[in-house]
Amino acid sequence: MDELRERTNPVFNTARATLLQLAQAGHTGAAMMADKLGLDLAGMTATDEGKKAMSRSNVAVLELRYRSMNAFIEATGAKTVVDLPCGYTPRALEDFIADKRYIACDLPAVTDEMGPLVEKILAERGQKRNVAYHGVDATNYASLRSALEGVEGPLCITTEGLLMYLTKPELAALMDNIRRILDEFGGVWITQDPEVVRVYIAMTLVVMSSDPAAAKGAVQALGGTADMNTVFQSKEGDKAKSTLLATKNAFGGSAANVMTVKGTPEQLAAAKDFLRAHGLKAELTPVARQMPKLSSLDPERTELARQAMERVNLWTITPDGDAVPVEGADGAFGVDTAVDGGELTVTLRGRVDSLTAPDFLAAFEKAAEGKTLTAARVDMSRLEYISSAGLRVLLIMTKRVGAGRVTVTEANELIRSIFEQTGYDDILTLQ
Ligand SMILES: C[S@@+](CC[C@H](N)C(=O)[O-])C[C@H]1O[C@@H](n2cnc3c(N)ncnc32)[C@H](O)[C@@H]1O
Repeated sequence: MDELRERTNPVFNTARATLLQLAQAGHTGAAMMADKLGLDLAGMTATDEGKKAMSRSNVAVLELRYRSMNAFIEATGAKTVVDLPCGYTPRALEDFIADKRYIACDLPAVTDEMGPLVEKILAERGQKRNVAYHGVDATNYASLRSALEGVEGPLCITTEGLLMYLTKPELAALMDNIRRILDEFGGVWITQDPEVVRVYIAMTLVVMSSDPAAAKGAVQALGGTADMNTVFQSKEGDKAKSTLLATKNAFGGSAANVMTVKGTPEQLAAAKDFLRAHGLKAELTPVARQMPKLSSLDPERTELARQAMERVNLWTITPDGDAVPVEGADGAFGVDTAVDGGELTVTLRGRVDSLTAPDFLAAFEKAAEGKTLTAARVDMSRLEYISSAGLRVLLIMTKRVGAGRVTVTEANELIRSIFEQTGYDDILTLQ
């Protein structure tokens, strides 16, 4: 199952890199966790990709985001923290978590590894914590709700490093879920994800410039309507640009969707409109309000980073009183297969998401094993939703059966729009 999970959800590997970067920034808990997980800093930095990912500016970004989020979480005063997604974060070990309930949620492949590991480390360190790990898919309401069973609000839901990986329909499902959860439990959802590109730009300029004074002008350009191109035209632009491109190549994160604000007022308005359409509103607070001490930067550059963070915001998201919450579909997943001659028929029910895509892949591979398939029909008449993990399985099917030979029947309007937005309508035959 681990291999199936990895093939349908490649993103979770980025969370391991985050842990290594925190370890690189001198976080002892992160170093201990990385060691116990068998993650090898030397091995990672030895490769070309590893070197790029470990650039000093990326380490500073991760340290800044992690430590400032801790301070923002504390400032909410919430007694229950829902880390969505938790990845391999060492947050469960932090002192400020000691008087809180900490619910760590991520894909099962991550939480199955992290739950026992954190329990072991806490026992070894003699630390008492109210900590639980739950396998969820953030787009799947039922999985989130079951992680919150018996929990008391108000909640502080925190999201670091998720929104940029989601497609628009996945973002929509996540927002509807958050609205429902905040309606029931109360509290806030906090995230720096919408402006993460701006954090990368700012920190790359702050760290990479040979002369801090030269970086100052470029950092100031982050205000107002500056976007990446304006910043790149600054004196230090070229160096910053190559570092940013290296980051993008190392992790493959495209960081471009409706919830990504690089700088223009139009992007900001689109992100706020999207939230509103899902019954949510955002209040923006400069990250500088909770500027942490950074071990990865000297005091002069930390001060420059603080100035840059006056222009980059934490988003505090709460229900928008007037908007009507959307009830998401919660149908249970099911898959049946049949092979007749060279033709495979697959019938799907409920939701194909990160939790259920491995079962879809397993069912397909079992049905296809040892056969020569010339065509496949996927009956979606009872399918409610498909995420990118499910799309990856359709791609694997197409590669196995042959281009243009996978036919999808009776997909609902939402699923059709997902195919159109992702270009899958070009590789599948829709009926
Ligand atoms: C870049 S990591 C960030 C993890 C953590 N917040 C941190 O800062 O270290 C992204 C995480 O999102 C998780 N993820 C991706 N898609 C998800 C989904 N649909 N539901 C829940 N978690 C998801 C991945 O497994 C991965 O751990």
